[in-house]
Amino acid sequence: MIGRRIPLPPDLRGRGRGDRALAPLPLVVRVYEQLSRISGRRRPPITAVDRDLRLLVTHVAAEAEDVVSLRLARPDASALPLWRPGAHIDVALPSGRVRQYSLCGDTGERGVYRIAVRRIEGGDGGSREVHEALRPGDAVTVRGPRNAFPFVPARSYLFVAGGIGITPILPMVRAAQAAGADWRLVYTGRSPGSMPFSAELAEFGDRVWLRPDTEYGVPASGAELLEHAPSDAAVYCCGPPAMIAGVRMDLARGAARPVHFERFSAAPVVGGKPFRLRLARSGRELAVPAERTALEVVREVLPGIAYSCRQGFCRTCVVRVLDGEVEHRDRALTDTERADSMLICVSRASGGSLTLDL
Ligand code: FES
Repeated sequence: MIGRRIPLPPDLRGRGRGDRALAPLPLVVRVYEQLSRISGRRRPPITAVDRDLRLLVTHVAAEAEDVVSLRLARPDASALPLWRPGAHIDVALPSGRVRQYSLCGDTGERGVYRIAVRRIEGGDGGSREVHEALRPGDAVTVRGPRNAFPFVPARSYLFVAGGIGITPILPMVRAAQAAGADWRLVYTGRSPGSMPFSAELAEFGDRVWLRPDTEYGVPASGAELLEHAPSDAAVYCCGPPAMIAGVRMDLARGAARPVHFERFSAAPVVGGKPFRLRLARSGRELAVPAERTALEVVREVLPGIAYSCRQGFCRTCVVRVLDGEVEHRDRALTDTERADSMLICVSRASGGSLTLDL
């Protein structure tokens, strides 16, 4: 349905539907709390990949407003490690920041990794650095690929992507098409010009519904995004936390079916209790409120502290724990590592305080 305007669903005419993506954070937190109770499931651990690749940027291309794609290859153009749809790489930027980007190219193109990056003005600087500092010929160190969003064989799929969340979905769409599966993609964004890779998706015709907010007046609700799902479809969703929460909530109300999702930013803290942090090297005492992470609080006094995904899978923020009991919420550390370490972007104190080797 590329380029085709879908008639406005009746709920968009004033019955309070469709504005969940604009929901304020407290509502998103409540939805995540409910989802945690409904599913009771923890996402599977991510396997670490200890392999550094020294790659060159071979192409930089504008893909949409504030979005560029980069193609990365070895200096000798030889084959790169295999990857599957949903995989990402860690890219070490010239400043030393490490950021994760989904691979959005063709899994069969063995000599190239393609990533895409949206520039976030108010962000922490990683996306601005990609846009401003990386040019063809520049070298970057890449770790991975790893897969935090595995694509599982199914007879039918519904893919839901929001904005730059299209990047892990693109290779999944191609894999579903190659496998002869029945699939649909709903792709939302602020406006047509903000949605990267729309033109690439044109080859799939009516399987793809582009749904820019500017054509409908409001962001889509979970129910609307799920409207075109083939029966029994596995649902793969990537985009802003509010969009994912809407899809998961409305899916949980309907027929049971698998849902797989990936966020591009930290999830809100769910079920957090306040605790105190003691930083052993400086003797500082910090208060971590219920709704904030230890990383956020530590960054206020140690702005250079290393972090990346803020979702508990990249391990960048690992810190040694000198005293106190930890409630581990990560998807990366082994039991042995958890005995004396924690990932401060997600994990918290299970008692009232922790002392960290910082
Ligand atoms: S920042 Fe990635 S695990 Fe904490």
